[in-house]
Amino acid sequence: MEKTFLMIKPNAVKRHLIGKVITKIEEKGINIISIKYLNVSNEQAENHYDVHQGKSFYNSLIENITSGPVVAIALRGNDAVAIIRTLAGSTDPTKANPGTIRGDYSNDILNNIVHTSDSVERALYELSIYFSEAELA
Ligand code: PPS
Repeated sequence: MEKTFLMIKPNAVKRHLIGKVITKIEEKGINIISIKYLNVSNEQAENHYDVHQGKSFYNSLIENITSGPVVAIALRGNDAVAIIRTLAGSTDPTKANPGTIRGDYSNDILNNIVHTSDSVERALYELSIYFSEAELA
């Protein structure tokens, strides 16, 4: 069993897409082990997007993720990291296939509905930004 992390971004929360995203996750058979509705602090945002520091879109990423409430979700299941990446679809909505979360609900790379972890190691790191160990047991 693998753990992974998915965040429903501010624009998707504003668009009332929380239910649709969670339905896709549940229908796929990946289990929610913890879930939070929260405002991301600057410190959390900087830790979350540390690998993108220095990129042209870094400031936009930080501004975007701190612009309103998000839903942080800890997930567990067989091959959960890869399954959730596939379910989310390509990061760039112009390349995301219909049926995926981004393919169905986004047309903008910054407001691409969800963030998902791209490896098991990265998932554990990102989960630790938003959840305590007890919340992930
Ligand atoms: S991924 O999925 O991590 O491999 O994707 P990556 O291409 O590395 O993108 C990481 C996050 O950066 C955002 N992004 C951009 N935002 C604005 N403009 C441009 N050009 C751009 N390119 C990438 C993208 O939305 C990813 O955010 P998250 O929250 O991780 O989905």
